[in-house]
Amino acid sequence: MNAVAGASPADIDAAVAALRAGELVAFPTETVYGLGADARNPAALRKVYAMKGRPSTHPLILHLADAAQLSQWVAAVPPAAQALAARFWPGPLTVVLPRASGVLDELTGGQDSVAIRVPAHPIARAVLAAFGSGVAAPSANRYGRVSPTRAEHVREEFPQGLLVLEGGECAVGLESTIVSLLDAEPRLLRPGAITRAQLEDVIGPVLEAGAPGAAPRVPGSTAQHYAPQTPVSVLGTSDLARALTDAAARGEGIAVMSRGAAPAISATSPTLHWEHMPQSAPDYARLLYATLRRLDKLGVSRILIERVPAGIEWDAVRDRLSRAAATFA
Ligand code: TXA
Ligand code: MG
Repeated sequence: MNAVAGASPADIDAAVAALRAGELVAFPTETVYGLGADARNPAALRKVYAMKGRPSTHPLILHLADAAQLSQWVAAVPPAAQALAARFWPGPLTVVLPRASGVLDELTGGQDSVAIRVPAHPIARAVLAAFGSGVAAPSANRYGRVSPTRAEHVREEFPQGLLVLEGGECAVGLESTIVSLLDAEPRLLRPGAITRAQLEDVIGPVLEAGAPGAAPRVPGSTAQHYAPQTPVSVLGTSDLARALTDAAARGEGIAVMSRGAAPAISATSPTLHWEHMPQSAPDYARLLYATLRRLDKLGVSRILIERVPAGIEWDAVRDRLSRAAATFA
């Protein structure tokens, strides 16, 4: 099968049959690959938590084929939700709204709200349209690990017996922007490719991620998430240069992710791996998780990441780097 052209109609049929049977299916979205389950089937949802090793209080994101289905899942569709849906769906935006009665605790982690998005990837859209109902899908990785942006990453996470639809490399590469519309003032819960500025163009002021209560309101969630196994540090340019000199002197194995050119020391230091990262935020975001996965396999003792710019278009990358890092200078 062609890796980019992706799933055939028979694959889509198999995925829908599996979902109807209460089984899990991994599928591509434009952000990251998701681990999908029928959102109306509590036993199927419990399999998602078990497979990921995820605490049962940590809510899932509901994926729909189109915004017209919203009313089946939420208690009300406020004008802000309508405006965001019209502007950004299908696309990498998740909105949190009060749940409708009958929406399962297994989907919402027991909360009275539900997080919903309409993904843009053609394979996700084909599955959702053919299934005809909502599919709950967290990122298709074990709890706390880096999200998968290629089908092979999903197979690494779950080597056994999971149907994985092939959809090539995810175009966005980071999880969706999440905005809560539960309170009078919208609040950014997770930065993503759609920036806070873009949201504000449509619905006015949006409270910042990082403001009190802005982290997903779930017990047990920690800052360290989306993390490789190798310790990661994010450093400014001069701290990075110093760390490299020290590591080279000790012969310590180090991988560096930087948007800059490799310094002279990397040519003379066999234990130093220099990974040149893209200049633009969207390109950096698209490659970030695949790069972390690859560097994680090099057997180095540390991954050092040069700090990225402060601009709003880097918010999502900066957020994921800080979560991957043991220390964030
Ligand atoms: O891009 C994405 O959103 C991907 C793809 C597969 O669509 N999915 C994804 O799901 O990133 P997951 O489970 O890895 O992340 C779900 C996030 C968690 O941080 C969770 O706490 C938050 O959504 N969330 C879900 N329901 C929520 C709710 N009712 N209130 C607040 N946060 C919620
Ligand atoms: Mg996740």
